[in-house]
Amino acid sequence: MTEDEQKQAAAEKSVSYIEDGMVVGLGTGSCAAKMVDLVGARVKDGLKMTAVPTSEATAQQAQSLGIEVVGFDRVSSLDLTIDGTDEVDPQRRLIKGGGGAHLREKIVASLSDRMIVIAEAKKKVTQLGAFKLPVEVIRFAAPALLSRLEGLGCEAHLRSGSDNELFVTDEGNYVIDCDFKVIANPEQLALDLSTLPGVVEHGLFIGYADVVLIGTDAGVEILGS
Ligand code: 5RP
Repeated sequence: MTEDEQKQAAAEKSVSYIEDGMVVGLGTGSCAAKMVDLVGARVKDGLKMTAVPTSEATAQQAQSLGIEVVGFDRVSSLDLTIDGTDEVDPQRRLIKGGGGAHLREKIVASLSDRMIVIAEAKKKVTQLGAFKLPVEVIRFAAPALLSRLEGLGCEAHLRSGSDNELFVTDEGNYVIDCDFKVIANPEQLALDLSTLPGVVEHGLFIGYADVVLIGTDAGVEILGS
């Protein structure tokens, strides 16, 4: 199976969790985009649901497929969120934010009764940290935060966009990618990052993922319930 087929298999399994009448959070990234396409197909077939997208890109995709998109002016909680990940460990702790959408993704996941994570096999790791941890920061604080973050034991770099300008999130902030190589204590690091003024949100998702669906050559592996 190619990585693309693994993502497709995980995405296909994930949409079977959606029931009529649900409010569903739609994630961001290439795996999530496959899931959104499948949600669009189910809506065309008559599924009644509303969606809260986790990025402008996902909002546009969902709307183009005829999925009803709402914001927090219309709903205050969600039944389910389906999203991709950059890494997942055996405790279902995640690194997210490769696409720079982890701020909205975490808000949407935090307001959801259940979070389902979808990914291809290579995202499953024994220890988090090989993927550079994305940290969304206030622009004003970014230069000073580089050294504060390095003080936590990583190499820190401001993220550039495809145009070589600095990458700017949907909320107008910068992202610093932190290369820890190995994150020995994700809970402690999450706490340390959350208490740094100027940090808006980090990409460690601890205690969010209820179910992880991993596309593998042997089928879709299910972690959690
Ligand atoms: C975006 C994310 C994505 O879910 C994550 O980067 C995985 O993306 P992909 O499925 O394209 O590998 O957290 O902020």
